[in-house]
Amino acid sequence: MCGIVGYAGSRQAGPILLDGLARLEYRGYDSAGVAVLSPGGGLCVKKTKGRLSALNELTDSGRALDGVIGVGHTRWATHGEPNDVNSHPHVGENGRIAVVHNGIIENYAEIKKFLRQKGLTFQSDTDTEVVAQLLEYYLSGGEDLISAVYKVLHRIEGAYALGILCADTPDSFVAARKDAPLIIGYGGNCNFIASDVTAIIKYTHEVSYMDDGEVAVVTKDSVEVYDALRRRVEKPRHTVDWDVSDAEKGGYEHFMFKEIMEQPEALRATIYPRVKDGRVVFEELKIGEEYIRKLKKIYIAACGSSYHVGMIGKYNLERLTRIPTETVLASELRYSDPLIDKDTLVIVISQSGETLDSMAALREAKSRGARILSIVNVVGSSIARESDDVVYTHAGPEIAVATTKAYSTQLAVLNMLGVYFAGLLGKMEPEQYDEIVAELRLLPEKAARVLADTERIKYLASRCFNHESVFYIGRNLDYALGLEGSLKLKEISYIHSEAYAAGELKHGTISLIEPGTLVVALCTYLPLFDKAMSNVVEVISRGASVVALTAEGRAGELSGTVEPENILTVPETHPVLEPSLGIIPLQLFAYYIALQRGCDIDKPRNLAKSVTVE
Ligand code: G6P
Repeated sequence: MCGIVGYAGSRQAGPILLDGLARLEYRGYDSAGVAVLSPGGGLCVKKTKGRLSALNELTDSGRALDGVIGVGHTRWATHGEPNDVNSHPHVGENGRIAVVHNGIIENYAEIKKFLRQKGLTFQSDTDTEVVAQLLEYYLSGGEDLISAVYKVLHRIEGAYALGILCADTPDSFVAARKDAPLIIGYGGNCNFIASDVTAIIKYTHEVSYMDDGEVAVVTKDSVEVYDALRRRVEKPRHTVDWDVSDAEKGGYEHFMFKEIMEQPEALRATIYPRVKDGRVVFEELKIGEEYIRKLKKIYIAACGSSYHVGMIGKYNLERLTRIPTETVLASELRYSDPLIDKDTLVIVISQSGETLDSMAALREAKSRGARILSIVNVVGSSIARESDDVVYTHAGPEIAVATTKAYSTQLAVLNMLGVYFAGLLGKMEPEQYDEIVAELRLLPEKAARVLADTERIKYLASRCFNHESVFYIGRNLDYALGLEGSLKLKEISYIHSEAYAAGELKHGTISLIEPGTLVVALCTYLPLFDKAMSNVVEVISRGASVVALTAEGRAGELSGTVEPENILTVPETHPVLEPSLGIIPLQLFAYYIALQRGCDIDKPRNLAKSVTVE
């Protein structure tokens, strides 16, 4: 969702901005633009609807833009359709200010009305244009740029990461942040801002994370940061511990496939440091046994695939710890007057750590006295910083919009938390504890075994890609697994797909099963294998074409009912861990189907990697 990059240095800014924007493409966008401070004074702005290739063409990949300071933007439309005019940067009426923005200015209509009454005219339908116009309005009243920026920030409501160029201050640009991600990058003899590290990792590993209310003035030699009261702030600097190659395809056709294949390594990096002498340990946690003993309830809040991890967490945390656990969509939690208090632990799961709904749920829970533990992949992200405890997944940068390795590592962490809490509470028999821990350590190797069999899944996908509607059915953990399998398929292949709790089929959905309907039957949760089998029989007897997924030793029991070449298997593990393996064939199935259908796998239509608006 909207990407921002800004550069101040001595090299030509255009190509650096275009390169940075290309690395932010994965966030999702429908138009793009850049603004550069021209050496002769004034602003040069180029923007266009569509992919970055169009902007590259318009600007000769940035080389046609003269100037060493500039900002760039990829827009994911919220206010106003994706077109050239609504693309960022937005310029004020006198052409002195150019603004790029990520977020939503909620009171834009009221400000627009005010400015129109003052005689200003607007070009676009966006909320962002009011920022540029309001800035110019204050500038023309005699304010200097920074005072004008503070006045604007006091006046606007909503969320923003802003990059501002002003023709009157040719050696710097200004950045500001509230509830939308923005980092500062220090490049030695140049400095940057960006929505995330991927945009600038090629140039620097040294970054600071801007906090809400802060304003930064960036020149080639310095970055000065001020808080909401305009007091100077010294920002701590962090070193990013991954490299540019981690954010590149490395010979794979798609990031999604690369990231699927990286899962054994990501699982190893996430699990192994947290198993010591046969015990699960979370050295990063500040909560101890006493707190966990007093816990009355756990809430898990998240969006999208992270929510699906939470759905598995509900089953497993309750099963292992016997603490009542509820998983809620973050976008619903904030408006549901939830029964959360100081005895509730709220676990927020987020790959990006920037999802606005998850952040809002976190704040809502915090305001009710809950302690927040977040499971986050992006180090230093907003959710991580506002949590009482953070457990980082070590998936590395995830670029494909459809999450794969981040999902797997989140799931590993959540299961490990269940084991850790249950161990502290004495809720598990020692043998059961030892068995789960041993199986946790085996997950990377078993995941690698599943990945060794991609050809079989590819073949199956080649037989299924023409379906227009698919049902995923399963019970208990398989139901939660089906939610994610179904989401993967629909988001990248655009096939209508739904996941159902298999036991619920007969209460409605079965009316949609007719000869040829594709049903993906998940039978990996072995305690309920027989029940799952009856549902398979139920749909087959109504003509469904079934693809089944089960544990290696159980394929034989399905083969009398399901065509043998439609049966996929994963190695057997402890039942609570089965979705960690089961998800891999489902990711691959979705991937190969999308490939057959010629879809834009890494950047599916209308979707964004990081959703920073409500
Ligand atoms: C978007 C992404 C999903 C992701 C969801 C939550 O919709 O496309 O892949 O699961 O946001 O994102 P988060 O970063 O909070 O896990």
